[in-house]
Amino acid sequence: MSNHSFNNFTDELRTRLSIVDVVSRRVPLVKRGQNYWGCCPFHNEKTPSFAVSEDKGFYHCFGCGEHGDIISFTMKSENIDFKTAIKELANMAGIKMPDYKPKSPAQIAAEESYLNITTRAAELFHKKLYEPGGEIAYQYIRKRGFTDEMIKKYKIGYAPKNNLITNTFNSIKPDALLATGLCRRGDNGDLYDFFRNKLMFPICNAHGQIIAFSGRSLDGSEPKYINTTDTEMFHKRQTIFGLNYARDAIHRANRSIVVEGQIDAIQMQCNGFPETVAPLGTALTDEHIAILCKANRNITFCFDGDGAGQKAAARAASIVMPFARDTSDIRFAFVTGGKDPDEILKSGGMDAMQKIINSAVSLIDFLWEIANKNYITSTPGGQSQAEKFLDREIDKITDIKFKSAIKSDYDKRKFDAWRKWKRGDNKNINISVPDVDDITKNTLIYAVNTYPDLIDIYGDFLATLNIEFDVPVIQMNLTRDSAEKYIVSLKIQRHIKKLQNEKTELTKQLLSGDDGAGDKIRRIDAEIMNTRAKLEQLINN
Ligand code: UTP
Ligand code: MN
Repeated sequence: MSNHSFNNFTDELRTRLSIVDVVSRRVPLVKRGQNYWGCCPFHNEKTPSFAVSEDKGFYHCFGCGEHGDIISFTMKSENIDFKTAIKELANMAGIKMPDYKPKSPAQIAAEESYLNITTRAAELFHKKLYEPGGEIAYQYIRKRGFTDEMIKKYKIGYAPKNNLITNTFNSIKPDALLATGLCRRGDNGDLYDFFRNKLMFPICNAHGQIIAFSGRSLDGSEPKYINTTDTEMFHKRQTIFGLNYARDAIHRANRSIVVEGQIDAIQMQCNGFPETVAPLGTALTDEHIAILCKANRNITFCFDGDGAGQKAAARAASIVMPFARDTSDIRFAFVTGGKDPDEILKSGGMDAMQKIINSAVSLIDFLWEIANKNYITSTPGGQSQAEKFLDREIDKITDIKFKSAIKSDYDKRKFDAWRKWKRGDNKNINISVPDVDDITKNTLIYAVNTYPDLIDIYGDFLATLNIEFDVPVIQMNLTRDSAEKYIVSLKIQRHIKKLQNEKTELTKQLLSGDDGAGDKIRRIDAEIMNTRAKLEQLINN
């Protein structure tokens, strides 16, 4: 139903598409200084005088004087008309062509009413923060290190428990209220407020207009944050929190910093890193990246150092690959110690944060780390898996020269010797089982080296065994089938052993008077029986 006006749509294309991406589909470009250079496609030349500016979104040929943007480039280089060029670019951006209709008066009115409601709502929430009833929210945000000035700048507010918006805006048509996501309709047909008893953060579009809200729970209830669900004006996948404030700073700093949370983004912006933004919710999308790259190609991601942060970073790395142009434009920093940037700034100030940002690793080094962490790269099989993973990621790079540079860089590197991988979320090792004996070790190492695909299937389990996989082994006569059976039976045996250990623990508890342990023991006995049956079945097969 999106009904963009004509001008809006070309703007949208210019926002979504990088001119470097568009041009480099036809002209190989090389980065020199701030700009990208290539041989002009519009006149004959052997030395590059055709410059492309990502920041400004246009190209200029110092030889023949041609210049323009993504649209004129597509029209001229392919000799097609405006409409066809737009179609092609829309296709490239993965967005639907709009109806070539100017906005209807009804739609203009709807958008005006939407922004009018969200803006007035933000003012109302903001006022409530300072009124009786808002004390808890106000105390909370002050405790989080927000000054009144910051509260004002980011228009932070409080949505009370009662239906503030529904009641205050009762003269506005329900449909208009529902359209903003601020109100919902209950089963009884009445409207109610979506945000109740929340600390409110307005979410702005690139023009700084309030299009949505994020509400933080104040009473410990879950989820911690709720955001406006997507509306005609708000699309979570392409909205970046804080970008409206950060745009100029990104330009000046020649990079953006991406943190995970919106409070982190605000604290960063106010404490020495005004170029910081955050995605909304935790999921980063390729649309977010495309928009950020348009602002500046240098992006430093700042993730939590824990398992979840590592995972999120790996996901981000995979998403940004097509946008990488240079070895160091995209970087990854990690905040360790279970903290986030907000807490680092509080405890160590700007210097501590600067250290973390300075220690960021490049996308290429980070990918290499992931490969070494996730595969047993000391075995031939693990190594080929790791290589496949890297190839798959490198393949996403669109800049051809950069792609081959990275390939040869990786070819020169050597995989690390054995690394303990996939650690951390192994819940099942809190009750220990004995280390495996030498014969078992030999068999496992032989099995994994001879049939590397077993790593894919049983890698998680093998990682819990604490074995060095890069030691010489005695050759054996083992089919793949028996190798797999061997691993599975070992897995089952260890599971049984673990259950037995648990049972011993529980028996002790039972003796010391914990009645609840009895039930647990019966459950464990049943599971032991079950597991034994499985083992027998496996052996007899
Ligand atoms: P975190 O759980 O790391 O929260 O989520 P935080 O930013 O540190 O929050 P504070 O400091 O306790 O207030 C990171 C981001 O993920 C989104 C929010 O945007 C949050 O800032 N999120 C988190 C949600 O959308 N919903 C949730 O329930 C939790
Ligand atoms: Mn936090």
